[in-house]
Amino acid sequence: MSTSAGTLTPSRKRSKWDQEDENEEAQPPLSIKPSKRRVKARTRSPEPSQPDASTSAGQALPSPFRSSHSVYVPPRTRHPSILPSRSVYSYERLNQIEEGSYGVVFRARDKQNGDIVALKKLKLDEEKNGFPITALREINALMSCRHENVVGIREVVVGDTLTQVFVVMDFIEHDLKSLLTLMPSPFLQSEIKTLMLQLLSAVNHCHANWILHRDLKTSNLLMNNRGTIKVADFGLARRYGDPVGVGGMTQLVVTLWYRAPEILLGATTYSTAVDMWSVGCIFAELLLKEPLFQAQNEIELLSMIFKLLGPPTNNSWPDYSSLPLAKSLSLPSPQPPQFRQKFHYLTTAGIDLMMSLLTYDPERRITAEEALRHPYFTESPLPKHPDLFGSFPSAAAGEKKRKVFDSPSAPARVADYKLLTEFDETS
Ligand SMILES: Nc1ncnc2c1ncn2[C@@H]1O[C@H](COP(=O)(O)OP(=O)(O)OP(=O)(O)O)[C@@H](O)[C@H]1O
Ligand SMILES: [Mg+2]
Repeated sequence: MSTSAGTLTPSRKRSKWDQEDENEEAQPPLSIKPSKRRVKARTRSPEPSQPDASTSAGQALPSPFRSSHSVYVPPRTRHPSILPSRSVYSYERLNQIEEGSYGVVFRARDKQNGDIVALKKLKLDEEKNGFPITALREINALMSCRHENVVGIREVVVGDTLTQVFVVMDFIEHDLKSLLTLMPSPFLQSEIKTLMLQLLSAVNHCHANWILHRDLKTSNLLMNNRGTIKVADFGLARRYGDPVGVGGMTQLVVTLWYRAPEILLGATTYSTAVDMWSVGCIFAELLLKEPLFQAQNEIELLSMIFKLLGPPTNNSWPDYSSLPLAKSLSLPSPQPPQFRQKFHYLTTAGIDLMMSLLTYDPERRITAEEALRHPYFTESPLPKHPDLFGSFPSAAAGEKKRKVFDSPSAPARVADYKLLTEFDETS
């Protein structure tokens, strides 16, 4: 997402690697000269090594088992040592793809094998409390959610200083938001079904692995030229199911237009259903070719939701009145949902899926697992095989000029500025 959307971008120290000057050949910060000293080959004593006198466990062992390792620590062969991160200079920078709210993304080439990759430089300059927890979560979530429809993480590399950390991912040609804007006509129903099945499959996998994404939106869905979607940007992700701290979970999650009503109304505990609401908004965006709720602020968003779904009732959302901000809102007079008017060409099954995703009560909102089995996907037209999708010029690879979009940014990550010890407080 562009910085034009109104967020402040912290001043960013650039490493030599990500400087704009394309002509300058990136050089490693330290060149290692070959050592002139000749290292004498170590001769091995034919005698068995003496046990360490300080290791009582070593002394107790019969001589063939004596070793310098503690008996309590398994030998390193079975537990490979922790390897240091490689340098960003292992990659040749090709072009900057996008500067998002929390990272700058570059296209680069792996100097070793020639693979084209994407490097996301995490913004750490403003950190005073060590490595930010959100960056750790992003890396951890990407690593624990490996799936065909989740962007593949390859490694984490470092630049010249400790504030230069880059996540290396597979390069994917498009993001769905740019694609929807550039495409002359909307996706076909059969294509939307394929994309929705892939998205639901990725979300189901994340949820099954106890990860909430918390920022699902079209600009965080990447798509390659072979009709495959990859969920990206796990910068707001967190584990769920862990005990929640006294402050509850933060409401500063999910970009406004995709934010579930329970978060808008101040719920401090929420779960996988928040991602499913966002999936509903994405489904609508694929059909309409523009975001469903383009609101300027939370109040406007709530009134747009009330208009489409009809205001919540005791029946449709029994817990509504107990939410912190519910009392400060005056509900409009009851009116029926407007889904049919909004999505003229959607079948009854399609409308049912949309309504099941955009359901007020998070307890009753459809899960990813249930949605994957929804009849919408088995009625005609059937999902299109990904190989039959057309390909488009990739703006990210510089094949077409990128457009700057005017849409809201991901919410500020307050947790960035918290100590690691405050892991579960408002997280
Ligand atoms: N692996 C990738 N391959 C190609 N392009 C990518 C890749 N990862 C990210 N991008 C591009 O960079 C953009 C920003 O990436 P990302 O969403 O991870 O950063 P962010 O700073 O967290 O963004 P946001 O503004 O959504 O918070 C994406 O919308 C996409 O266009
Ligand atoms: Mg993003």
